[in-house]
Amino acid sequence: MRIDVVTIFPEYLEPLNVSLVGKARARGLLDVRVHDLRRWTYDRHHTVDDTPYGGGPGMVMKPEPWGEALDEILGTATSPAGTTPAAGTTPAPMLVVPTPGGRPFDQELAVELSGAPWLVFTPARYEGIDRRVIDEYADRLDVREVSIGDYVLAGGEAPVLVMVEAVARLLPGVLGNAESHQDDSFAAGPMSHLLEGPVYTKPPQWRDRGIPEVLLSGHHGRIARWRRDQALARTAANRPDLIARCDPSSLDAHDRAELERLGWREGSDGRFWPTGQHVEE
Ligand SMILES: C[S@@+](CC[C@H](N)C(=O)[O-])C[C@H]1O[C@@H](n2cnc3c(N)ncnc32)[C@H](O)[C@@H]1O
Repeated sequence: MRIDVVTIFPEYLEPLNVSLVGKARARGLLDVRVHDLRRWTYDRHHTVDDTPYGGGPGMVMKPEPWGEALDEILGTATSPAGTTPAAGTTPAPMLVVPTPGGRPFDQELAVELSGAPWLVFTPARYEGIDRRVIDEYADRLDVREVSIGDYVLAGGEAPVLVMVEAVARLLPGVLGNAESHQDDSFAAGPMSHLLEGPVYTKPPQWRDRGIPEVLLSGHHGRIARWRRDQALARTAANRPDLIARCDPSSLDAHDRAELERLGWREGSDGRFWPTGQHVEE
């Protein structure tokens, strides 16, 4: 996968050289290119911002440097992501625009992005990028405005680090054990609306704390069931909104009994609700 990041703080992306992403780059699984937006400015101060039309506080990123940067990076890429490029051209990237006003980033979107051959990220500063830039490229690329959470950061570089790491660990060959993300919180399938439960390693006794007996039993069925119960309990306690969204067909009889034991009740639609909160539609 190729990833381009355009930023006024290239040094902020240095963590992409370490750990899992750094190793994936070293092994040629990821081709990450970080560009300084100021390369596409021509005045003495390398200006990238100006005052907002309509007035108000803060500055807005000027469209010209972004347009020139993106045109140069896109080069010969001509067809929207997912469509077949004309002979002799490169398939166009997906353009990922970090913004608090975007679609929430989640595991499902990480999986989708991990299937793209090329991603271009445009982390902004100030009050964001002049809207015309997003509209201009939405005409020729698959553009995604994405938020990493309901809070406002000073810039989009930290969101890019978050998204690149979530995407990179899903790429074939990046994780040592290809199956290790299948049991993760939010993983597609049985875990899609559940949080992973607690994990333990050696020694079997630490201070005055042991580990749950079942994990020493060697009984794979009982261990899997225990892990599932722990996942249900943690999700019910910390993210009840996820339990309410669980697809009824993903819950077996034991899951249902466990949720009832945790104080949840099954509605007529098969979904679970905290006791006393279900409103029949
Ligand atoms: C100070 S913020 C601009 C916030 C903008 N005025 C608003 O209220 O939506 C500057 C930049 O940081 C990035 N950013 C801040 N919070 C973010 C979030 N929760 N998710 C993704 N990007 C974010 C975006 O690139 C944004 O353009």
